[in-house]
Formats: sequence, C-alpha cells, structure tokens
Amino acid sequence: MAMIALKCPKIEVAVVDISAPRIAAWNSDQLPIFEPGLDEVVKECRDRNLFFSTNVEKHVAEADIIFVSVNTPTKTRGLGAGKAADLTYWESAARMIADVAKSDKIVVEKSTVPVKTAEAIEKILTHNSNGIKFQILSNPEFLAEGTAIDDLRAPDRVLIGGRETPEGKKAVQALKEVYAHWVPEDRIITTNLWSAELSKLAANAFLAQRISSINAMSALCEATGANVSEVAYAVGKDSRIGSKFLNASVGFGGSCFQKDILNLVYICECNGLPEVANYWKQVIKINDYQKSRFVNRVVSSMFNTVSGKKIAVLGFAFKKDTGDTRETPAIDVCKGLLGDKASISIYDPQVTEDQIQRDLAMNKFDWDHPIHMQPVSPTAVKQVSVTWDAYEAAKGAHGVCILTEWDEFKKLDYERIYDSMQKPAFIFDGRNVVDAEKLREIGFIVYSIGKPL
Ligand code: UGA
Repeated sequence: MAMIALKCPKIEVAVVDISAPRIAAWNSDQLPIFEPGLDEVVKECRDRNLFFSTNVEKHVAEADIIFVSVNTPTKTRGLGAGKAADLTYWESAARMIADVAKSDKIVVEKSTVPVKTAEAIEKILTHNSNGIKFQILSNPEFLAEGTAIDDLRAPDRVLIGGRETPEGKKAVQALKEVYAHWVPEDRIITTNLWSAELSKLAANAFLAQRISSINAMSALCEATGANVSEVAYAVGKDSRIGSKFLNASVGFGGSCFQKDILNLVYICECNGLPEVANYWKQVIKINDYQKSRFVNRVVSSMFNTVSGKKIAVLGFAFKKDTGDTRETPAIDVCKGLLGDKASISIYDPQVTEDQIQRDLAMNKFDWDHPIHMQPVSPTAVKQVSVTWDAYEAAKGAHGVCILTEWDEFKKLDYERIYDSMQKPAFIFDGRNVVDAEKLREIGFIVYSIGKPL
C-alpha cells in the first residue's frame, strides 16, 4: 500500500487495522516490521496520501477499492486441520465490509487464499449487501521479504483475476490503472478469478520445489563427494532451468511456502486428487528431512552427543534482511539440539530474545513433521541464551551453527572466534556462506551443506 501511495500521489491510501498498537507503530518512527527501504517510502507518503488508522469502518465505507490483506494461517483444528487455510479473518472482514458499505465497491483479495475463495466471499457480500454491488478481484502478492521494496518497484508481473462479465472486466481495468502508474502494461497479467488464486499457490509451490530439489541433491552430494554449488551452477546454466533459487540450505522457512503447499495439498485431496496431493507433500517432507539431517549431522560429528555442550547459533530469522521468524528452520534445528540436551547461545541481528524464547516454547501444530514431534520441556528452553553479539555467542562453544545467511557472518573475525571456542572447534554452515577452506586453515572442522569435507 505504501508503494501504491508513493507511485500514485493522487490516490488516497488508508491502511486500517483493529490493533491500536500496530497502527501507532506505523505512525511512529519505529515501524513494526524491519524491511530494507520501507522506512523511506513510508516517510515520504505518510500524512500526504498514506494514512494509518484504527477507524476501520469509516475508511472502508469511503473507499472505492478495498484490499483485504488479513492473515490466512493454516487451520489448527476441525475439518482440514493442519492443511486447510483458516479463513476466519477473511470472512469477518467480508461481513464487516458488507455491513458498512454504502456505495459499490471493488474488493481485492490480497491475502493468499485457497482457489475458489472469491466464490465464498462473493456470497457473503452479495447476501448481506442491501443492493450494493461488489466486484471481487484476486490480486495476489509476489514480493519476498527482505527485498519487498525492490520487488514492488519493479515486479516481474502483477496478476489480476476477475469475473468475465462486463462489470468484472471494468473492475479489473480499474485496478490495472492503479498499477499502470509504474508497472509496464505487458507485466500486468489479467486472468479469470480462479487462475489468479491458483497461480499464487502454484508459484510458491514451484519455488519451494526448487529448494527441495536442490536440497535433496545436497544429501546425495554429501554421500558421493559431489559439490552442490557446482551442481547447482552447472544445472542452472541451462536456460530452461535458470540459476536463481537453487541455493542448498538447512531448509526453507517463512510464513508462505509451507502454509501454501499444505493448502494446495488439501485442495487436491478435496478435489479427489490424492496422487497430486502426495506429489506436493513430498516438497515439505524433503524440507523436514533436510532440517533433521542437519541436526543429525551436528550430533553425529560431535562424537554422537551434544549433551551439556554449548552450541552457538548464528542467525534465527528465516532468511537474511528480515526479523521474521515464522516457520524458520532455526526453530526446528534448535529444538532438535535441545532434544539432545545441548545448551544453545543464539545471536541474530534482528530478532529479540523475547521472540526467540516464544518461538522455542511454542508447541507447533504437527502435520507430519518428525522434528516438531519432539516435545521441548520448559527446562529445555532455559538452556537457551540470546546475545546481541556473535562473538559472545561463540565464546566457549564446542560448535557454531550458521542458520541464516546474514552478510555480516561472512565478515566475522573467525580467528577470534576460534581462539575463544572449545577444541576441536566445529562450524556447521547451514547456508553455505563462509569460506570453508579458509576456516579449515584456521583449524576449524567445517561442515557445509552438500559439500565434501
Ligand atoms: C516467498 C516467495 O519467494 C514470494 O514470491 C512470495 O510472494 C512470498 O513467499 C509470499 O507468498 O508471500 P518469502 O517467503 O518472503 O517469499 O522468502 P523467499 O525468498 O522465498 O525465501 C523462503 C525460504 O527459502 C527462506 O527460508 C530462504 O532462506 C529459503 N531459500 C530461498 C533457500 O533455502 N534457497 C534458495 O535458493 C532460496
């Protein structure tokens, strides 16, 4: 919304939320999320044509176009628990819109939703509308965290799905005109509603599948002496495959990939397509396997026990340049190490101690996740300390695990770290960010993902 406000000075954008502290944060100098470049954009537009308010009903009543960007988490109970998307927030937003609307409106699905959600939303809106006309559009978001501003400024594509009626086409055109302020016309794709809804889930499934494919190869590389970076480079040179998104890692995380694939799996099952469901489920299974493989590697190389040993964890966010920890592989890895009675010292430049403790204490909903099933007792979480300094975290440690690819981890003084650690000193690079050869020269025993020792 900030980017729309920036690029369309004549459009007034009101961002509304029922959470007063959150809106207060958006109106302050300390924005509630860390996203490179966002501060500048918000500062330029705020109180010009970008407003943050808790007066939801007033702004919804006044708006011509309403973007609904509410949370759509995985259902934790009831029908489809563990897989289906929970549309509670979406449904209540739709009911509220119907209640307060006094003029015709375009309602845009911005949240990632299961295919066919627009049909349900249409029903809620039209059955409660008192004669007011609503057009539902699907306009999924493809930005990635950490690069959100660049992704929004120059998107690969903007996707708009709508009804193929004259009113539907008019609504699609209206939204297209908003984006056309800065996005070249050939990058604005228009489709029917269901294609737009499904394309979002499909894109995330394809992206996650690439990571699981290269991560599966990384296991084979470790077993054979091949080097996964060389394999990825050679494979990615084929222009039909492409070089992006082929970095082997400790596993993918984030609020989107797992949730969206689980949702896709559920939709396939509901449509009587168990083979298709199983195909996509495998992407998640490989991801879980990659996380537990990493834990096993740490434990087995440290003489089959980490009990009572100090392990430094560098990086907790699910990727660099964000403070977001949702579904971060670090949670599973830390829980795995705690399960083996390690004592962990964590450093992440953007994640607070509070957040880390909450993440590690949380009992995640288990879908088919072997690592999640290991219960973490309250005492185990006490084995966790959080520091604001990588050197402090590594001091006296037997091993260091790098779990997020923060640039600063490439530039650390590893001689200093080595000198302060127990010997033999291990480094487990879950993101392949350090120069393993150099570290070996210092004296470290280094394990990288998918690389020879
Ligand atoms: C993802 C998609 O990339 C966006 O296009 C999409 O809009 C977004 O989900 C969403 O649905 O909202 P995001 O989760 O923010 O974006 O971050 P990604 O850059 O996709 O990274 C996801 C995870 O995959 C991270 O843990 C990252 O470290 C990991 N990853 C990524 C790898 O392990 N290897 C890679 O080569 C790339």
